[in-house]
Amino acid sequence: MEKILFVASEAVPFIKTGGLADVVGSLPKCFDKEYFDVRILIPKYLCIKEEWSNQMTYVDHFYMDYLGKSRYVGILQYVYEGITCYFIDNEEYFTGAKPYGDWYKDLEKFCFFSRAALSALPVIGFQPDVVHCHDWQSALIPVLLKDRFHDGEFFRNMKSVITIHNLKFQGVWDVKTIQKFTCLPDYYFTPDKLEAYKDGNLLKGGIVFADAITTVSDTYAEEIKMPFYGEGLDGLMRARADSLRGIVNGIDYEEFDPETDTYIEQAYNSKNFRKEKIRNKRALQKELGLNQDEKKFMIGIVSRLTDQKGLDLIQFVIDELCQDDIQLVVLGTGEERYENMFRHYAWKYPDKVSANIYYSEAMSHKIYASCDAFLMPSLFEPCGLSQLMSLRYGTVPIVRETGGLKDTVEPYNEFENKGTGFSFSNYNAHEMLSSVRYAEGIYYDKKREWNKIIDRAMAKDYSWKTSAMKYQELYDWLIGC
Ligand code: ADP
Ligand code: GLC
Repeated sequence: MEKILFVASEAVPFIKTGGLADVVGSLPKCFDKEYFDVRILIPKYLCIKEEWSNQMTYVDHFYMDYLGKSRYVGILQYVYEGITCYFIDNEEYFTGAKPYGDWYKDLEKFCFFSRAALSALPVIGFQPDVVHCHDWQSALIPVLLKDRFHDGEFFRNMKSVITIHNLKFQGVWDVKTIQKFTCLPDYYFTPDKLEAYKDGNLLKGGIVFADAITTVSDTYAEEIKMPFYGEGLDGLMRARADSLRGIVNGIDYEEFDPETDTYIEQAYNSKNFRKEKIRNKRALQKELGLNQDEKKFMIGIVSRLTDQKGLDLIQFVIDELCQDDIQLVVLGTGEERYENMFRHYAWKYPDKVSANIYYSEAMSHKIYASCDAFLMPSLFEPCGLSQLMSLRYGTVPIVRETGGLKDTVEPYNEFENKGTGFSFSNYNAHEMLSSVRYAEGIYYDKKREWNKIIDRAMAKDYSWKTSAMKYQELYDWLIGC
C-alpha cells in the first residue's frame, strides 16, 4: 500500500476560497483504494463551519518550539467520504473570519503550519511515502524534508511533490523575514535556492527542492516556462523542466451532476436537457428579478473578481454587449473595483445584468445549470474548474485560449461539426466580444447546432478518472526511485 499525504491550506467541504479547495478535497477520493492510502492535512481554522468542526475528533497534541516560544499543536481527525482528514489546531495562528488576508501574518502562519504538519506525523503514526504539497502555503515542506527533517529515520526516504495551482502567489518577503519564519540557515538564501530577486521566496524553495513538480494543465506547464506567464520564475521552470509535468484537473462528478443536484430547480441530463434545462433558467430569472423570458441568451460568470479572470475585458465592452439581446448573471467577490463595476451595470441595465456580490455554493450551481453560456476570458488560467462545471451542466463555455481553458474547451467549428465551446486567442476586449456574438448568433439562429454543441459538451469526461491515474503513475515512479 502506498501512503500519500496531501498538505494544503484548503479543502472542500471544510474550507474553500477557490479551485484549490475543490482539487484537494475531491482528488484523494479518486485513487485506487486497494493500492493507495491517501490522506489530507489542513489547518483547523476557527472559521470552519461548526457542522464540520463539531464532527472532528481529538487525536493528540504536542508543543513545538517556534520563533522563541513553545507552541501548541493540536491534531484532530475526521474521516469524510472514506478519506482520513487531519487538522492542525493552533488558535493563535488559525483565527479570523477567513483563512488568509494579511500577507505578513500569512507567511508566518504557513511556515508554522508546514513545520507543524511534518512534526505531527510521528505523533499520528502515519508515515507517508509521498508528501504532496500544494501552492506556496505548503512549499516549505520539500525544503524541510531535505534539511532538518532529513536526519530522522522517520523522514529520510519521504518523497515530495509540489503542485503549482497558481504561480502568481509565491509567498515572498525580504530575506531576513523569510529566514526568520523558516528557521533555515544562511545556506538556503542564495539565488539557486530560496532567494529570488533579493527576496525570500517560499514557492521557489518548494520548486527547487521537491522531487517532482506538477501543475494543473499541460498548456500552463508550457506557459510558465515563458516570461509572460512565468511570474519571474520562468528561468527556474526551464531549469526544472525535466521534473515538471502538467496534469489537468478534474471535478467531482457526484457533487456536480445536473441529474442529482439538489441546489437546482429542475434535474436534467444529456438526453433531456432540450426540454428540462430551461426550467432552471426560468426559476433563476424569477429569483434574480430579471426579465422572465426563457428565449433570452443568458451568460453566466462565477468567479473570484480579480485581474487574473479578464474582467477588464468585460468592463471595456459591457455597454456594447448590453445592446444585444442578452442577460448577464454574475456571482463573485474580490477586488472592490470589479465588485462595484458589476453593481453599477446591474443598476444601469436592471433587466439584463444581475450582480450577485457574495459567495454561495447554491447560487453557483444554479448559474451553472441555468445559463446558456459561461464566460471566462482569463488573462491566465492554470486550469480553471468553472468551465469544467459548465461543460458538465451543458452550459457552453466562452473562454480565452490560455492554460487549462485551452486544454479543456474545444472551439466550435461549424464546418466540421466539432467543438464544445467558443474561444479567442488575444487578450483583447473586442476579440472576446466577437466570440460572444458568434455564440449568440448560433444560439438564436441555429438552435439545432447549438444543442449539438451541448451534446458534445455533456459527453466530455472531466471527472478525475484519467488524471488520478497520472498522479498514481507519478507516485509509483517516485517511490520506485
Ligand atoms: P480559481 O481557483 O482561480 O478561483 P477555478 O475555476 O479553478 O478558479 O475555481 C473556482 C471555484 O470557486 C469554482 O468551484 C467556482 O464555482 C467557485 N467560486 C468562485 N466564486 C464563487 C462564489 N462567489 N460563490 C460560489 N462559488 C464560487
Ligand atoms: C488556482 C487556479 C485555477 C485552478 C485552481 C485549482 O486557483 O487559478 O486555474 O483551477 O487553482 O487547481
